[in-house]
Amino acid sequence: MSTATVHFLLEDLLVQAPIGTSLQAIADTSGADITFGCRNGSCGTCRIRVTKGLDNCSEMNTEERDFLKGLEVGSDERLACRVNVMGDIEVDYLGL
Ligand code: FES
Repeated sequence: MSTATVHFLLEDLLVQAPIGTSLQAIADTSGADITFGCRNGSCGTCRIRVTKGLDNCSEMNTEERDFLKGLEVGSDERLACRVNVMGDIEVDYLGL
């Protein structure tokens, strides 16, 4: 099975996980310092900036796009609870 590497910048933590794993699961099991609230894309607590590998994140669904549009955030920002990791990425935790 192919794996991807997630680099959590805040802790300089490198984690390998199978392609397609949710970023939420990777953060939960690795101890990465991302705070989750609703875990369904409706609170924004888990907002991150993808500093490398944005194309290696799963497609944004309509709900996530609408939520982030309401916050007027940059195009490199995602909700960690809505991302599946499809390749190597580097993320910085922003929160709300
Ligand atoms: S935990 Fe609420 S939007 Fe991700």
